[in-house]
Amino acid sequence: MFSYLTLPCLILFLSPYVHSQMYPFPYGQQLDYHFYDRTCPRLPMIVRYNVWAAVKNDTRMAASLLRMHFHDCIVDGCEGSVLLDDTEDFKGEKNALPNRNSLRGFEVIDTIKTDLERFCPSTVSCADILTLAAREAVVMVGGPFWNVPLGRRDGTTASQKSANEQIPSPIESLQNITAKFSSKGLDIKDVVVLSGGHTLGFAQCFTFKRRLFNFDGSGNPDPTLDSSVLTNLKSVCPNRDASNSNLAPLDSSTSKFDNVYYTSLINNAGLLESDQALVKDTNTAAMVNSYSGNSFLFSQDFAASMVKLGNVGVLTGQKGQIRKKCGSVNY
Ligand code: HEM
Ligand SMILES: *[C@@H]1O[C@H](CO)[C@@H](O)[C@H](O)[C@H]1NC(C)=O
Ligand SMILES: *[C@@H]1O[C@H](CO)[C@@H](O)[C@H](O)[C@H]1NC(C)=O
Repeated sequence: MFSYLTLPCLILFLSPYVHSQMYPFPYGQQLDYHFYDRTCPRLPMIVRYNVWAAVKNDTRMAASLLRMHFHDCIVDGCEGSVLLDDTEDFKGEKNALPNRNSLRGFEVIDTIKTDLERFCPSTVSCADILTLAAREAVVMVGGPFWNVPLGRRDGTTASQKSANEQIPSPIESLQNITAKFSSKGLDIKDVVVLSGGHTLGFAQCFTFKRRLFNFDGSGNPDPTLDSSVLTNLKSVCPNRDASNSNLAPLDSSTSKFDNVYYTSLINNAGLLESDQALVKDTNTAAMVNSYSGNSFLFSQDFAASMVKLGNVGVLTGQKGQIRKKCGSVNY
């Protein structure tokens, strides 16, 4: 009874199974732009309002929220681990060297979470809140808008050791920084584009001070640093420990999100060694030139790299949990 229809029918009959192996049901692995459309329609408004209020009160908060999202994602993926307080079981990331007395904005995320728990309890992950807040923050200070794929779940642990090892340092080589990005599926273009986040915010003197007084043990300033920038920075960061936590803008030109950061690098006015390094390598220098000359290209590429960053190591489906409070795992 085998006819010429048998084989086509068999293929049709089996194809859903082949399909379901590629996209295992019901564990949808993909993030989804409409993830909370039915379960928490107020989500975008609640995040937008709170970020707006926080940035209105303190413009720097836009920078701080963007950076916090980066530090969440680059350490074991975007699973909200950066938000967890220390417990008896683990030392969290808040007190890791790059974060302690440096990361800001935890209270903004906590307030958003509190609002959300009123309207849609146990529904929206802290990792998604942080991702959306970073986008709103960028938009609010004049940066590009991009759609944020959603459906991340929250991790149940955090690691101070991972944070110390995985967050790039401002005094390590471009090669090492690129290696850290590559290990997360981000490439050298993402390094250049996302470093453009330094169009916003401030750095403490200790993060770049050796460029001013004792570059590479030479007893002299970094010879590539523009001399009038050097003079200004020395007045903000005098050569004593007491100045270590004074603040200098990462991009002195403007406090809004723009591509002037790249022009400053070309003018040898980058603040961090890791910023200025981007024009010392011919490959990345070409990208710096094009972003400096084309703000539209920068906006477009920044948005695309932010989506990539937001996809790093996400937990979906049944993995992880939806925390009730962003600072602690559910018991
Ligand atoms: C490429 C490697 C990177 C290094 C070495 C680096 C390093 C730093 C350092 C040392 C600071 C100053 C922290 C302090 O003094 O307390 C800082 C601030 C900042 N970083 Fe980065 N960063 C990198 C990438 C990124 C990325 C990818 C983003 C976001 C897309 C970002 C966004 C920011 C922002 C917005 C601030 C200012 C925060 C504030 O004012 O509160 N950084 N970064
Ligand atoms: C406003 O910003 C200041 C720091 O600039 C902060 O101390 C204060 O808590 C903020 N207030 C609100 C309501 O967010
Ligand atoms: C780059 O990483 C290697 C291996 O971790 C390390 O030994 C070296 O000191 C790093 N170089 C710089 C300049 O950070």
